[in-house]
Amino acid sequence: MSLSKRAGLISPSVTLAITAKAKKMKQDGIDVVGFGAGEPDFDTPDYIKEAAKNSIDSGFTKYTPASGIPELKEAICRKFKKDNDIDYETSEVIVSCGAKHSLYNVMQVICDEGDEVILPSPYWVSYPEQIKVSGAKPVFVETCEKDGFKITPDQLRKAITPKTKLFIINSPNNPTGSVYSKEELRLISDIIVEAGIYCISDEIYENIIYDGNKHISIASLDPGVKRLTLVINGVSKSYSMTGWRIGYTAGPKEIIQAMSNLQSHSTSNPTSFCQKASITALEGPKETQKIMVQEFNKRRDYIVERLNSIEGISCRKPEGAFYVFPNIFSLLEKSYTGQKIKDSVSLSQILLDKAKIAVVPGAAFGADNYLRLSYATSMENIIKGMDRMEEFVENLRGRT
Ligand SMILES: Cc1ncc(COP(=O)(O)O)c(C=O)c1O
Repeated sequence: MSLSKRAGLISPSVTLAITAKAKKMKQDGIDVVGFGAGEPDFDTPDYIKEAAKNSIDSGFTKYTPASGIPELKEAICRKFKKDNDIDYETSEVIVSCGAKHSLYNVMQVICDEGDEVILPSPYWVSYPEQIKVSGAKPVFVETCEKDGFKITPDQLRKAITPKTKLFIINSPNNPTGSVYSKEELRLISDIIVEAGIYCISDEIYENIIYDGNKHISIASLDPGVKRLTLVINGVSKSYSMTGWRIGYTAGPKEIIQAMSNLQSHSTSNPTSFCQKASITALEGPKETQKIMVQEFNKRRDYIVERLNSIEGISCRKPEGAFYVFPNIFSLLEKSYTGQKIKDSVSLSQILLDKAKIAVVPGAAFGADNYLRLSYATSMENIIKGMDRMEEFVENLRGRT
């Protein structure tokens, strides 16, 4: 007996061991400062919880249409019009069980064996695995820190081959926090249209953006690129609703229909009352979201300043999301109490063991000279964690 070839393609997560160890240390009463969180540390706003409770009390607890309830699709269409200036009909929208599920479904219905998918790196951890499970091959394009970790038009053009089926863009970006400007997106969209390839635009961090920047959806630029783009979004990050599992996709009707067929035979509908609560999230007051983003902004400024004040670490200021992605290249090959730092994974392990800080190695995102730290944790934790990081780096030996 053996597992399927497909199952063999999925790599175990490099972060899993460190996350599990950090959790165990915490359970054992060790004071670990965690910078690993991929979700806001704020509670879901009360008015959204109330909507879910009311929905359960009213008996809205049965199957719904597999692709989501019409009222939520209508609310999503209104959101696209209001926030992104894009016109979608409900037949161009599908609601899934979180944005991760939306992405999975898109890849399953677009990609075939032998297709190539262009993925700028650093990338979010699940993209390569989802591409591989679809039968396609990820084609990584390494972006540069000096370009703000954004793919250049020239890089994209060079990566396109007759086998290219899809290009993935994620702005604001996890892990780098980079945000593409309208001008940059326009140049990219021209290439997509000229090559006639599909584009996934993962906009899950749309609302977590700083310094007065505005998120632009590539699908809003012109009808040509809209016809080729699948916009992915959801309520997880914007409304602190990660556990509710509601994500959505908007795009060409035929693709949405194929995703709906697939979903109808796999998960069926996303949870009924979570769909109702998501209408309230999308259409309700935005005050709590504003407060959350203001708090993230303060933490971002603080953590970037502290990291840059440590000799051997440099960190660009992210424009969005809630992660910093410091460059730790100068720390590689140094050692701490005799233990050599070979790469981002060993640095993360030593940081956890010796400094009691849990971070995610850049290798998980295809960028070994970096670490990812989430600032979706209290200011108190950030201060404590940065004090520990500073002390740890001061005690490193080797490499000049
Ligand atoms: C870039 C990116 N896309 C999608 C997701 C998935 O979001 P969801 O929790 O709605 O599945 C995440 C979650 O971490 C993410 O970082």
